[in-house]
Amino acid sequence: MQEDIISIKNEAVARITSCSDASELEEIRADYLGRNGKITKFTKNIKNLKEEERKQGGILINQAKKTVEGLLIDKKQELIRSLTEKREWFDLTIPGEKPEMGHRHPLRVVLQEVTDIFGYLGYQVADGPEIETDYYNFESLNIPKDHPARDTQMTFYLENGKILRTQTSAMQGRVMEKMKPPFRVLVPGRNFRYESVDASHGFEFWQVEGFVVDKDVKLTDLFGTIDYVLKEIFGEEIKLKFAVTNFPFVEPGVDTYMRCTICGGKGCSFCKKTGWSEIMPAGMIHPNVLKMAKINPQQWSGFAFAIGLSRIVNLRYQIKDLRTLTTPDLRILSQF
Ligand code: DAH
Repeated sequence: MQEDIISIKNEAVARITSCSDASELEEIRADYLGRNGKITKFTKNIKNLKEEERKQGGILINQAKKTVEGLLIDKKQELIRSLTEKREWFDLTIPGEKPEMGHRHPLRVVLQEVTDIFGYLGYQVADGPEIETDYYNFESLNIPKDHPARDTQMTFYLENGKILRTQTSAMQGRVMEKMKPPFRVLVPGRNFRYESVDASHGFEFWQVEGFVVDKDVKLTDLFGTIDYVLKEIFGEEIKLKFAVTNFPFVEPGVDTYMRCTICGGKGCSFCKKTGWSEIMPAGMIHPNVLKMAKINPQQWSGFAFAIGLSRIVNLRYQIKDLRTLTTPDLRILSQF
């Protein structure tokens, strides 16, 4: 009798301990403490026991009952706790975490806009290498080895004899050799110069190079294009002025100045206190450049220009420090 009680109690303890489900726990309760439960039966039978066994049996049955009841309560609480913990993960009514939305980099936004404007004018986009040969970066642009214009473009020379492109103009020769005129081409890209870095200088900067080769292309076509494009980008109210300048690959060379949109022309650090911002160097393609690409300058003429893309982005977003555009810091970039 005593051994039976103990083994029934142990059986109940083992089942409760390994139980992981509330309805199963209810079954266990019924099996042992219910009306026909195994422990209940002992209680009912106690009166049939012999006098001397009755006392000891009663104590044992009570102990077994208490142990099992206590364990059932503990287990129930444990199951409720684990259930609510799980609920926290799967409760569909709890508002989720808002995912951070990414967006395009300001350079890409403006680049897309510029590409669209030129696309409308019939330009196609070409892409070229950032690691360039001396030939395409300089020689094909009428800048031979000993030309002083090389000194104005501090160059990164690589160990393999190549260089980091200093200007997207390097694509002129590559494209002209391959394509038959007439053509209108746009080359957006990164350039590199060995400059010390500060708010207005970087060792990398973006340009959008463009060039057109066709019959009877004139300087006025160039002026018209620049005027149209810059007004599309900045609005009709901008003021432009042109000045003659020198680049070996154009003749004549032209500098485009736009009334500074940051200070409205009063003079600020961005426009170097001049009220004008140099924005788009250009010119008529030099006959030597055409000749080197095997295009006959008697038959064909063209113009070329470069938009300082980083500069346009700065003007558009009123960014005073060029380095802002190359930082990977999301706290800064998320503002645009
Ligand atoms: N490649 C020149 C530079 O980076 C800019 C330039 C000037 C490009 C005149 C042109 C041009 O296409 O016609 O300094």
